[in-house]
Amino acid sequence: MNGYTISDRVLSVELSGIRKFFQAAKPGSVNLTLGQPDLDTPQHIKDAAIHAIQEGYCGYTFNAGLPELRSAISDKLDRENDLSYTPDQVIVTAGAGEALYIAFQSLVNPGDAVVYTDPGFVSYAECTKLASGRGRPLPLTSDLCIDVEQAKEVMDGARLFVLNSPCNPTGTVESAETIRAIVEYADDKGICVISDEVYEHFVYGDTKHVSAAQFGDNVLTINAASKTYAMTGWRLGFVAGPSEYIDECIKVHQYCQTCATSISQHAALAAYTGDQSCVTQMKNTYEHRRDILYDGLTRLGFSFKCPEGAFYAFVPMASLFPALLDIGVIGVPGDAFGECGAPYVRFSYASADAVLHEAVARIEKIVG
Ligand SMILES: Cc1ncc(COP(=O)(O)O)c(C=O)c1O
Repeated sequence: MNGYTISDRVLSVELSGIRKFFQAAKPGSVNLTLGQPDLDTPQHIKDAAIHAIQEGYCGYTFNAGLPELRSAISDKLDRENDLSYTPDQVIVTAGAGEALYIAFQSLVNPGDAVVYTDPGFVSYAECTKLASGRGRPLPLTSDLCIDVEQAKEVMDGARLFVLNSPCNPTGTVESAETIRAIVEYADDKGICVISDEVYEHFVYGDTKHVSAAQFGDNVLTINAASKTYAMTGWRLGFVAGPSEYIDECIKVHQYCQTCATSISQHAALAAYTGDQSCVTQMKNTYEHRRDILYDGLTRLGFSFKCPEGAFYAFVPMASLFPALLDIGVIGVPGDAFGECGAPYVRFSYASADAVLHEAVARIEKIVG
């Protein structure tokens, strides 16, 4: 054989730093790396999946998803997000991850600039490279928020602006004013906003989540059942937006995925149409866990912004990272989320109370 043939595009892509540290944790470690709820998928959702298997719903569905599920998502977007998308403007995908991928593939031409925050979720930079675009990171303020004026400068000549509120890894929930200003400016400049809202239901205290598409038409809304209903392994998400975009995104979806898993689609139908009290319970659980971690670390002298949403604490303690590995408390180094994340470590608090107390107790040993 005369050498392996790999595209330059794929060679330029990095494996996620999150998974690397998750897999490297030694036995007995307190592992706070993954954004994976430890809570179980609610029973009525599992029952719907079991029923779907028993009824033999095991074949392909329409590419864009079951009509009744697309309708349920359209209703959900109206009810919860004040957005009006017809079922035809929704594609059901294999998680928000696939929704992001098909959106980038459909909208980005080689060399196009894509703006995303630094720090920001790992997929945005890598999906940009996979679409042969050029990443244009937008540094956040010291308070880990978007500065609108700086965002406008960075947006100059860009193709896409990726907004993620509540944000992974920072836990920031951007204000309605910031979101409105970005969407309106982007609309003026012909830039599409991709609004990744997978943590929409996990916002704490008086904080409110606002959907970007309320403020303009040039927006693709991305979401998933993954975090909302503790369904990360079911691989079920969606993208909704103007037909002009959706009619193109479906082509990429068709050739990379065909359709989302039929059984997961039936489960998601039960999730989106069923009793939503499970979501409130999960939110309350995460809020309590956030308090354990935030109160514990601030008591030890760490000073950082209390996360308003998602389930991550982004703590400026990178210099302690080797010591954290020694005592078996595993987070993700902040530079996995962009250069500006370097001073931080991200801890997921989607873990049991006892695990979080143990993490704080171990950290106390190195700072005490
Ligand atoms: C901000 C953000 N967007 C998208 C995803 C991908 O979600 P899914 O599991 O639905 O593909 C994640 C997963 O951690 C995330 O944090």
